[in-house]
Order: sequence, then C-alpha cells, then structure tokens
Amino acid sequence: MNIKKTAAIALTTLIVAASAYAATHSPIAQRKAAMKEIGGQMRTLGGMAQGKTEYDDFAVFSALEIMLNAAITARPLFADSMNMGEETRAKPEIWAAGSDFDAQMGQMITRLEAAIEADPADLETFLPLFGAVAATCKSCHEAFRAPES
Ligand code: HEC
Repeated sequence: MNIKKTAAIALTTLIVAASAYAATHSPIAQRKAAMKEIGGQMRTLGGMAQGKTEYDDFAVFSALEIMLNAAITARPLFADSMNMGEETRAKPEIWAAGSDFDAQMGQMITRLEAAIEADPADLETFLPLFGAVAATCKSCHEAFRAPES
C-alpha cells in the first residue's frame, strides 16, 4: 500500500477519535485540544525547518494533513456563544465588530492546503511554505490570544 494511502487511513482513525472526543467535551476544551494538536505538529515541522531533524517529506505531509483537519475542527468552535464559562485564552476581540479572526483562520487553512498541494519533496521547497503557515499562528495569537496566566 502506498504510504500516503496509509496516512489517509490513519487520519480517518484520528477523525473518528476526534468525534468521540467531541461528544464528551465542551467546545472550549475541544478547540484547545485542536490547537494543541496543531502546536505538536508544528514542533515536528519546526525541527526540520531548523535542520535539527532530517527532512522527511512523508512526515511533513502527515503533519500538514493533521494540522489541516485540526484547523477545520477548531474554526467553528470559536463561535460567539461558546466563549463563556470556562478557562480560555481567547480574547474578547475575536467577537468584536470588524474582527478578522475568522479570515485569519481561513488564511491558515488556505496556506495549509497550499503546502499539502505542493507536497514539498525537499527542505528548500518546504521552507517558504512552512514560513507562510507559521506566520498565521503568530499574527493570530498576537491579536487574539491572551498570554498564559
Ligand atoms: C485565527 C487565529 C489563530 C490561528 C491562525 C492559530 N491560532 Fe493557535 N490559538 C488561537 C486562540 C484564540 C487560542 C486560545 C484558545 C482558547 O484558549 O480557547 C489558541 C491557542 C493555541 C495553543 C494553546 C492550546 C491550549 O492547550 O490551550 C497552541 C499550542 C496554539 N494555539 C498553536 C497554534 C499554532 C502552532 C498555529 C499555527 C500553525 C496556530 N495556533 C494558529 C488562535 C489561533
């Protein structure tokens, strides 16, 4: 079986696990878990980007796919009514008039899709795609995520 097909099956398992998780946890806990997943995959990618670990195109493909799924999962979990009643670092600015929070979320998703589509075979091709994704984390966190208390 080709490795990308195997990855697709692994992802399906992950998604099934995620929906089981969703059934028992609040939207805030779910979106935090999704972001944490994204952060974990970024550490794998960051290690390669910095030359600390060897470039592995399959590991990159898998990490990007997991991040894309987590981002798609997280996006609707930032809806207005879900902001209340639990520990969260989401800033109220997310829900303020004229907020571009959802557009920034969309941008992360678009850049993840572009990186997956490009399927970078080497580090040189990967770096700008990685940089584009990483920029979306920073920009959104600066505007919309409160510091750790
Ligand atoms: C469109 C906005 C947005 C983008 C883009 C975004 N984040 Fe976040 N992220 C947030 C917000 C808001 C929170 C706080 C969520 C909460 O506490 O409810 C958060 C929380 C987190 C957390 C903490 C989760 C926890 O355990 O509490 C991590 C880790 C994280 N993000 C990583 C990333 C990485 C890595 C990227 C880029 C690949 C990224 N995020 C992109 C808005 C964003």
